[in-house]
Amino acid sequence: MPQHHSYFGLLLLAALWHPALALSPKFVPCQIQKPASTSPLSGCPAGTIFVSQNASDPHMQFTSIQAAIQSLPPTGAATILIAQGVYHETVNVTRSAPLTLLGQLPSTAVARAAPFANASSPNMNLVQVFQTNFVMPGEDDATSAVLTVAPNGAGGLIGAGPTGAPLQPVFGNTDFKAYNIDFQNRAATFAISQALATDISYANASFYGCSFASFQDTWYTGRNGSTYVVDSVIFGQTDCAFSFGPILHWFQNVILANRACGGGLVAWKGTNQTDAPGNRYGAYISNSQIIRSPDANSSTSTTGLCFLGRPWNELATTVYLSTFMDASVRPAGWTTFSTPTFQNTTFYAEFNSTGPGGNTSQRVPIEQKLTAAQVQSLDLTIDGVFLEHPRWIDFEYLF
Ligand SMILES: *[C@@H]1O[C@H](CO)[C@@H](O)[C@H](O)[C@H]1NC(C)=O
Ligand SMILES: *[C@@H]1O[C@H](CO)[C@@H](O)[C@H](O)[C@H]1NC(C)=O
Ligand SMILES: *[C@@H]1O[C@H](CO)[C@@H](O)[C@H](O)[C@H]1NC(C)=O
Ligand SMILES: *[C@@H]1O[C@H](CO)[C@@H](O)[C@H](O)[C@H]1NC(C)=O
Ligand SMILES: *[C@@H]1O[C@H](CO)[C@@H](O)[C@H](O)[C@H]1NC(C)=O
Ligand SMILES: *[C@@H]1O[C@H](CO)[C@@H](O)[C@H](O)[C@H]1NC(C)=O
Ligand SMILES: *[C@@H]1O[C@H](CO)[C@@H](O)[C@H](O)[C@H]1NC(C)=O
Ligand SMILES: *[C@@H]1O[C@H](CO)[C@@H](O)[C@H](O)[C@H]1NC(C)=O
Ligand SMILES: *[C@@H]1O[C@H](CO)[C@@H](O)[C@H](O)[C@H]1NC(C)=O
Ligand SMILES: *[C@@H]1O[C@H](CO)[C@@H](O)[C@H](O)[C@H]1NC(C)=O
Repeated sequence: MPQHHSYFGLLLLAALWHPALALSPKFVPCQIQKPASTSPLSGCPAGTIFVSQNASDPHMQFTSIQAAIQSLPPTGAATILIAQGVYHETVNVTRSAPLTLLGQLPSTAVARAAPFANASSPNMNLVQVFQTNFVMPGEDDATSAVLTVAPNGAGGLIGAGPTGAPLQPVFGNTDFKAYNIDFQNRAATFAISQALATDISYANASFYGCSFASFQDTWYTGRNGSTYVVDSVIFGQTDCAFSFGPILHWFQNVILANRACGGGLVAWKGTNQTDAPGNRYGAYISNSQIIRSPDANSSTSTTGLCFLGRPWNELATTVYLSTFMDASVRPAGWTTFSTPTFQNTTFYAEFNSTGPGGNTSQRVPIEQKLTAAQVQSLDLTIDGVFLEHPRWIDFEYLF
C-alpha cells in the first residue's frame, strides 16, 4: 500500500533507531493503530482479514479470530489483523498453508517497548486471547489449550505414559506466526490442573512479542513440532514449558516468569536416535531471563525453589545459554520425575548463566557445564539444532 508512506517511513526509521523497541519492520505498518480516517488495513499485506469486536467498524470482517481462521481456504498464505481487545475464545489452526496472526500495536509509539525492557514489569499487548479450560480427570491435556496448531484432533493429543499418544502420519501448519498477542489460560490463579496456553504439534510455528500465561503446562510443543519464540514472556508455575518428543523448541530473549515453583521450568520427553538418527530434539533457551513473576502471589515463596527442568521420560535435552537467573532458581538446578534413573539419560546443560540463580557450583552432577568451545563445537545455534536455516522463522524481527 503506497499511502501514508512518509508517516510509516518515519515510524519505521524511529523503530530502527531505537533499540528498546521491538517489532517486525515488515508488519508494523499494518499492526499500528491508525486514525479513524485511515483504514486499519492500510500497510497490510494484500488480502489481510480484519478481526474486530467493534461491530460498527465498517472494516470489521469477523468478530472472532476463530471465525476468521475458519473462513480461510485450505491453500494460500493468509494474514489476519486483530484489533485491540480481549477475545474469549479457543483458536484452533488445522490448515497446513502459512498463517500469520497480527495483534494491533499502539499508535502513540511505533510499538510498545519490548517486554524485555523491564523484566519486573513486562508490557502486555493490546490483544489478549483467553480461555478458562483446565483438564478434568480422564481428559487429554489438549482439551485445555487456548491456541492449538495441529493438523487434527488426534495430532493435538498428548496421551499418557512413556510413549504418549500414537505418532500420526500427518503434518499441519508449515509456517504459523503470531505477533504481539497475549495467550492466557485463566482457569485459576493457581495450578488447578493442566491448563495449557498452547498446543503446537506436527507444525512449525514462531511467536514474536507475545506472552503465554497459565499456572500448569503453559507452553506445550507436541510431537513433530518445531517452535521458536522471541521477545516474549511465559508465565507459569508447574512445568512452565513442557514438550513431548520428538520436538524442538528454541526460546530466544524470553522471560520465564515463575508465579510459584512446581515441577521444572522445562519438562521434556525425549526421543532416541532410532526414531530419528542425528536428531537434535530438545528445548533450547538462549539469552533469556528466569525471574519470579511480578504477579506472583505475595504469600508464595519462590526463593531457591524453582527447578530448571525435570525429565518426563528418557533422553530429555534442555540447554540454557547465556540466561539470567534470579534467586528463584534452585541451586541444584535439575530434579527427577517419576523414574529417578531417567535423569542419567538426559542432556541437561548450561552455558554462561548469570544472576544469583546462575551459580552452578551446587548443580546436580549429571549437568553438563558447557564451555564456549563446547557450545561452538556442538553448534548450539538455531541453524545448528534445526539442522537448517528455518524458512519459517522471521529473522528480521527486531528485539
Ligand atoms: C467502532 O467503530 C465506529 C465506526 O468506525 C467508531 O465510530 C467507534 O468509535 C468505534 N468504537 C470503539 C469502541 O472503538
Ligand atoms: C520496572 O517496573 C517496575 C514496576 O512497575 C518499576 O518499579 C521500575 O522502576 C521499572 N524499572 C525501570 C528501569 O523502568
Ligand atoms: C480443531 O479442529 C479440528 C477439526 O475440526 C478438530 O478435530 C479438533 O478436535 C479441534 N481441536 C481443538 C483443540 O478444538
Ligand atoms: C515429521 O513430519 C514430517 C512431515 O510429515 C515427516 O517427514 C517426519 O517423518 C515426521 N517426523 C517424525 C519424527 O515423526
Ligand atoms: C527407541 O525408540 C524406538 C521407537 O519408539 C523404540 O522401539 C526403541 O526401543 C527405542 N530404543 C531405545 C534404546 O530406547
Ligand atoms: C494468595 O495466596 C493466599 C494464601 O494461599 C490465598 O488465600 C489468596 O487467595 C491468594 N491470592 C490470589 C489472588 O490467588
Ligand atoms: C554471557 O551472558 C551475558 C548476559 O546474558 C552476555 O552479555 C555475554 O555476552 C555472554 N557471554 C558469552 C561468552 O556468550
Ligand atoms: C546415575 O548413574 C550413577 C552412576 O552410574 C548412579 O550412581 C546413580 O544412582 C544414577 N542416578 C540416578 C538418579 O539414577
Ligand atoms: C557460588 O556458590 C558457592 C556455594 O554457595 C559460593 O561459594 C560461591 O562464592 C558462589 N559464587 C559466586 C560467583 O557467587
Ligand atoms: C519444519 O521445520 C523443520 C526445521 O526447520 C524443517 O526441517 C521441516 O522441513 C519443516 N517441515 C515442514 C513440513 O515444512
